[in-house]
Amino acid sequence: MKKQALLIPYNKNIALDNRIVMAPMTRSRATNVENKPTEDLHVPYYKQRASAGLIITEGSQVSKQAVGYVNTPGIYSQEQVEAWSKVTKEVHDNGGKIFIQLWHVGRMSHPDFHDGDLPLAPSAINPNAKSYTPNGFKDTVTPKAMSIDEIKQTVSDFKNAAKNAIVAGFDGVEIHSSNGYLFHQFFNGTSNHRTDEYGGSIENRTRFFFEVLDAIKEVVPQQKIGARFNPSLDGLFGITMDEETIPTFEYIIKRLNDYDLAYIHLSEPFTDVSNIPYAVQHIAAHFRPLYTGTLMINSNFDRESGNKIIEDGNADLVAFGKLFISNPDLVERFKNNYELAEWNEDTFYTPGKEGYLDYPTYKESNITV
Ligand SMILES: Cc1cc2nc3c(=O)[nH]c(=O)nc-3n(C[C@H](O)[C@H](O)[C@H](O)COP(=O)(O)O)c2cc1C
Repeated sequence: MKKQALLIPYNKNIALDNRIVMAPMTRSRATNVENKPTEDLHVPYYKQRASAGLIITEGSQVSKQAVGYVNTPGIYSQEQVEAWSKVTKEVHDNGGKIFIQLWHVGRMSHPDFHDGDLPLAPSAINPNAKSYTPNGFKDTVTPKAMSIDEIKQTVSDFKNAAKNAIVAGFDGVEIHSSNGYLFHQFFNGTSNHRTDEYGGSIENRTRFFFEVLDAIKEVVPQQKIGARFNPSLDGLFGITMDEETIPTFEYIIKRLNDYDLAYIHLSEPFTDVSNIPYAVQHIAAHFRPLYTGTLMINSNFDRESGNKIIEDGNADLVAFGKLFISNPDLVERFKNNYELAEWNEDTFYTPGKEGYLDYPTYKESNITV
């Protein structure tokens, strides 16, 4: 029988045992004042999933300022670096590879996280979304437009976080330039009304991203850097597409050919975009011809569609999100075509072990007593 495409090892800049990637997923389990991952929860959670070709961690804020959701871990303090080291060691001891996702939410935050100060964003435009604060879901506010000094400080925060990630033993970093967060807010014309060198033209709206990438490249080899994009995101996280949205992503992705990154990580549309004239409906098929490096694709894939997109030549790696929550042994299940377990949305972001560490492997769930 022919080997499944998802199970064929991959070796270009990063050497992976298979092409099944665990997508980054916020789980809000860092319930401690230091916002660090814990030995009780994060270490066993990532260990259970170490058979993935690559794990990408939950979004991890690059500074205190970068946060927007309760109980998410950071990668800016010494305590956080030490705590993440335990996670990376456990994943490596179990044969896995792990990147950390570097996150700044921008305006998708709330003054409750910042001692009453406003969250930062390219422009003072409220996304009219919700922020998950320590006091429950709250409406977002009109953020503060970043000064040039604040932009420069944020570039330096990303660089520092990337340096920390290497100290903590990560195999690489993924820049979270997706899903309506800070970079996406700069890219998008409806959230970026700046009139300086960070707004207006496509080149200006993408300048901040490339400045961060170039800064990270000084401390992490570019072969260990990935970047995530969601080009056809519309109507979620405060983002509305316009006629320049897809050309902006085309510009970014073509320009990334000048780099030698670990990968670009794209999402197929999160919602039905067939009625949106500016949207591209098949992201991998559209962007594959524009990019010469490794292309990772995500969103709504299963065993069959994941194998197919690689066989069709439209992606090299496939990231699975929710399936990895409920199937820690997803690779084993795909290999043997075992039945898949359902995830429980109610425990996605709740504290503690429930819905986090208690999903059994296929073998464990089929032990007869
Ligand atoms: C609980 C949960 C948390 C998520 N957190 C993040 C995150 O921190 N960073 C990110 O880039 N995407 C995040 N996502 C999006 C996933 O990475 C992925 O794009 C989405 O789940 C669709 O893929 P799937 O259909 O395979 O689940 C999250 C998704 C879920 C379900």
